[in-house]
Amino acid sequence: MTEAIPYFQDRTCPYHPPAGYQPLREAGPLTHVTFYDGRKVWAVTGHTEARALLSDQRLSSDRQNPAFPIPFERFAAIRRVRTPLIGVDDPEHNTQRRMLIPSFSVKRIAALRPEIHRIVDGLLDRMLEQGPPAELVSAFALPVPSMVICSLLGVPYADHEFFEEESRRILRGRTAEEAEDARLKLEEYFAGLIAAKEKNPGDGLLDELIEERLRPGSLTHDELVRLAMILLVAGHETTANMISLGTFTLLEHPGHLDRLKAEEDLMPAAVEELMRFLSIADGVLRVAKEDIEIGGQIIRADDGVLFPTSLINRDDTVYPSPDELDLDRSARHHVAFGFGIHQCLGQNLARAEMEIALRSLFTRIPELRLAVPAAEIPFKPGDTLQGMIELPLAW
Ligand code: HEM
Repeated sequence: MTEAIPYFQDRTCPYHPPAGYQPLREAGPLTHVTFYDGRKVWAVTGHTEARALLSDQRLSSDRQNPAFPIPFERFAAIRRVRTPLIGVDDPEHNTQRRMLIPSFSVKRIAALRPEIHRIVDGLLDRMLEQGPPAELVSAFALPVPSMVICSLLGVPYADHEFFEEESRRILRGRTAEEAEDARLKLEEYFAGLIAAKEKNPGDGLLDELIEERLRPGSLTHDELVRLAMILLVAGHETTANMISLGTFTLLEHPGHLDRLKAEEDLMPAAVEELMRFLSIADGVLRVAKEDIEIGGQIIRADDGVLFPTSLINRDDTVYPSPDELDLDRSARHHVAFGFGIHQCLGQNLARAEMEIALRSLFTRIPELRLAVPAAEIPFKPGDTLQGMIELPLAW
């Protein structure tokens, strides 16, 4: 292995890759980093290499494999359970994914758009009634995806304070024990909810899974509990960060924002470019099951592999002037939703939420601006999903 670069992920600007990534960018497309425990893992920064490897089934997502790389000590607890979908390989993965694909198809999500509009408008009505100022994360960016995923799954939104806090502790808890404790609390919550739904069915995706999979025996109770957790956590924290960081980034690029306000049709392309530019899930991980030859190098069985998506999405051989936000570029083929068999199941939903949320926010409050200087606004540390902790706004 070549000399490894210490892995340091904190961003200095919330919408640019960490300054600590610069040596990786220079050394790419395939290089090495050292994790907290001294472990050297491959870091893949080239777009071509990343897409080839992310679709290579010789790389595994199985976190229970003792060789699966752990970038930060507080992630150590992920080894303890078998995480459905995101933490299993085919054929098990394929069976689970096929069961869920219809609920997240373009058609099903298109049918959900009026409901997303209703949620977005209700939250904006309240923000306008109460403000200015407003704190966008708590008033809008988090409740939008949280309410939508509750409605889709059939989870009572009345419990949102509980599950948002436990999700935060899973993703941003200080220690592995804290993340583990939060996981157990969420599991207990879903076990209760599923038992209640078995007696009194509702009309969400969890209810469908109870009827069509749990009762006939093709899914166990534990599997359904863990699946529900993954869908709930992945379904709200991610998009919430994109809405808060997307809003901040657009406010920091007023020329682009003016164009977006004037040209409504630009929004889908803008969302795609924001996904590329912001790359909020900035550290997809795999472990090699076999030796893999790529770019003249050999990834050996049991080697860990890191995909820093913020660098892959700024590969200048694919995206000219990659550090510029450019609403006219084709950002297609970015890997901000991952790539290969694990490519984000909720991407159609996330796109619809982001488009509707950002369009409605700037249409209904065109004078929106930061309430304090940008440098004073806190954003998330590098070892979690990227986004704003708070976003104080005025109009
Ligand atoms: C903008 C928001 C989102 C971002 C940036 C994002 C990002 C990602 C990424 C990078 C992966 C791949 C992980 C890997 O390969 O190891 C992924 C997978 C996944 N995402 Fe998302 N996601 C978002 C929204 C959502 C939403 C709204 C849901 C709704 C339930 C969701 C559910 C999932 C699931 C279930 C997987 C695992 C899929 C599989 O393993 O087959 N995500 N997401």
